[in-house]
Amino acid sequence: MKAVECKNVWMIYRNFMEKSVTALRGVSLDIETGEIFGILGPNGAGKTTLISVLSTILIPTKGDVRILGMDAFKNTKKVRELINISSGVRLPWGMKVYECLRFYALCYGITDRSIIEKLIADFELEEYRNTRFDDLSAGNKQKLNLARAFLNSPEVVFLDEPTANLDPDIARKIREMILQIIDRNDTTVILTTHNMREAEMLCERIAFIRDGKIIAEGTAEELKKFIKANERIIVRFKEPVKSLPISVPYELNGNSAIFYVDNAEKATPKIVLELSNAGIEVESVKMEEITLEDVFIELSENY
Ligand SMILES: Nc1ncnc2c1ncn2[C@@H]1O[C@H](COP(=O)(O)OP(=O)(O)OP(=O)(O)O)[C@@H](O)[C@H]1O
Ligand SMILES: [Mg+2]
Repeated sequence: MKAVECKNVWMIYRNFMEKSVTALRGVSLDIETGEIFGILGPNGAGKTTLISVLSTILIPTKGDVRILGMDAFKNTKKVRELINISSGVRLPWGMKVYECLRFYALCYGITDRSIIEKLIADFELEEYRNTRFDDLSAGNKQKLNLARAFLNSPEVVFLDEPTANLDPDIARKIREMILQIIDRNDTTVILTTHNMREAEMLCERIAFIRDGKIIAEGTAEELKKFIKANERIIVRFKEPVKSLPISVPYELNGNSAIFYVDNAEKATPKIVLELSNAGIEVESVKMEEITLEDVFIELSENY
């Protein structure tokens, strides 16, 4: 059974007195159970809208959504029992950590306190169990918000930018915590992120969304094929250069050039020799692998 099936979903926001905004334009997606699926895209691409539709928070203008085989908008109550979402960190400001989790657990009819204790331990919140939400650090607020999203042991969990605005150490820790929990419970995860490394680390498949449309979908490795090379060589010149007598694809930008090649180690000596034969003095050479970030930039600009 598929965790999520979404067919030709459109979302048009019609605001009173304002121009309507088309946030999703015919999005179709299939996500397998147990999969960690990433939704990537620039600001305003429609990520939060998509995740809100898939988690039944927003009713789309058009299109079908099935969650765990059920029509999300005909069986909303049943679907909501089996899913959860973390989007933005907004929890009652005056509630203490334990109180807050107990409150949301009771909303799900969960009276077993050991579930709360387990999540407090999983997200390392023990020290803060009596701290009010408002007094928590950004990282701990996010941990509490994520713990809340796992209270009902969801089969499918939607995480909207789970590590946004956190410093790298905390973000890494939170990624590890998420991985540990979903591994144990075999949860399907659909997450949005701006962080390419996060997507590469966590996600088995990734969809790029732009202007409300999915423009590419696949594993990180498949997506990297959009850039027709594996590696790049960045060469800085001593003087600005107007053109280059080199046969491999490159981008020239005054004092530097980027060459796209399959094997940077092999290609570098040849390129440097050709440059020196043409009388171009090289200041420095750097080799880099193509990353998901390159794909993101390429897709955002050219598709
Ligand atoms: N409630 C709303 N009313 C009107 N327009 C909206 C509403 N929510 C979102 N939009 C618009 O829909 C489009 C998609 O927004 P959305 O928040 O889904 O994008 P996003 O990819 O999550 O962006 P970000 O990376 O900034 O979080 C944007 O143009 C946004 O301005
Ligand atoms: Mg968003």
